[in-house]
Amino acid sequence: MPTLELCVVALLVICITHWIYKWKNPKCNGILPPGSMGLPLIGETIQLIIPSYSLDVSPFIKKRLQRYGLVFRTSVAGRPVVVSADPEFNHFILQQEGKLVESWYLDLFAKVFKQGENRPDGGYIHKYVRNLALSHFGAESLKAKLLLQLEEMINKTISTWSNQESIEVKRAAAEMALNFGAKQMFSYDPEKSSIDLTEKYVNFSKGLLSFPLNIPGTAYHKCLEDHKKVLNIMRDILNERLTSPDETNQGDVLDHIIEDRKVENFLTEEFVVQIMFGLLFVSFDSLSATLTLAFKLLAENPMVLEELNAEHEAILRKRANPNSPITWEEYKSMTFTLYVINETLRLGSVTPGLIRRARKDIQVNGYTIPAGWAIMAVTSALQLNPDVFEDPLAFNPWRWKVV
Ligand code: HEM
Repeated sequence: MPTLELCVVALLVICITHWIYKWKNPKCNGILPPGSMGLPLIGETIQLIIPSYSLDVSPFIKKRLQRYGLVFRTSVAGRPVVVSADPEFNHFILQQEGKLVESWYLDLFAKVFKQGENRPDGGYIHKYVRNLALSHFGAESLKAKLLLQLEEMINKTISTWSNQESIEVKRAAAEMALNFGAKQMFSYDPEKSSIDLTEKYVNFSKGLLSFPLNIPGTAYHKCLEDHKKVLNIMRDILNERLTSPDETNQGDVLDHIIEDRKVENFLTEEFVVQIMFGLLFVSFDSLSATLTLAFKLLAENPMVLEELNAEHEAILRKRANPNSPITWEEYKSMTFTLYVINETLRLGSVTPGLIRRARKDIQVNGYTIPAGWAIMAVTSALQLNPDVFEDPLAFNPWRWKVV
């Protein structure tokens, strides 16, 4: 081989080796938590996204907790991450919103709107989105309108299901959650819509947990395509509202945001579309996952179902008219139902952990988490801790009984 080519190959080998070394040994002003950064670029993404069919802490996390202790480092989808199952540190981190850490989704928002003018800081946007969600989905709204709307929707859905030979619960729950969320968000009516919004969101959700390889045929590619399509639908809905506001005023989340645009400069049309997409996604994904799990747990635990039915039937017996709509007092009197909900939420950690991004270097147990790294607080480690919950994998709503 001529000398020049040999030099180029040698240079390439040196560069790649140096890059791999840097990848495996990231810069840190202290000692990094133990762990492995996995393969260059893909890190340990594949191991993390292998689905687990147990309610227990994911095998990926469990194995590393046993090997490295309560705090370890890894790399997922090209980003360095510190995973923590240390309850005290997790509690501390979740109190540090806007100070030492910020929400992952704010980090995403920041990227999408980097060049936007008049963009307030992440903390302000966070408060805005949280208040928006609370004012339409919080306790006051539940009491004032959602309880009745939910009852009506559930009765209608269950009556449709009862006419079918069988239903696939996961898909049916996704449809119910999406139709409910989209109705609150922009008065969506599935019967009048020409596209299947549930299918688009289900594909998007599947793609998020797939390997991030953007070539036709992969779940990730489909996820990005469906994301684009839904954003276009949201843009059309927003444009329709903006062009004829009086005819389309529905008192929904979208109307609320459009009204806020009069005083909030950061609510550009693109931002509104992103908020709509994001809010519908978080409500749909968490509700459908929790509902599916509730169905499974109730089907497997007939004694729980029996007590739940007994509670509901006792309420119906007390009514003058059994067909009258549910009242707030009836809803508040469902003690056992609340135990069932608590227990389902305890077992069903809908995300492997809460994700934050370090804004500054953070010290934990003698280690340093460098600024810019993601931190995943594994909440299920506490929810499934046998020292806190006896026989933690058992579905036992009675454990919530206050004695
Ligand atoms: C069973 C149903 C639900 C579960 C289990 C659930 C779970 C969660 C969890 C664990 C978080 C914290 C995420 C984090 O801090 O990283 C969260 C945040 C959030 N959820 Fe839900 N959620 C549910 C329903 C909903 C619904 C119906 C909405 C309505 C829009 C909603 C809107 C939000 C919003 C806006 C946040 C961000 C709040 C903030 O950053 O302060 N969620 N949810």
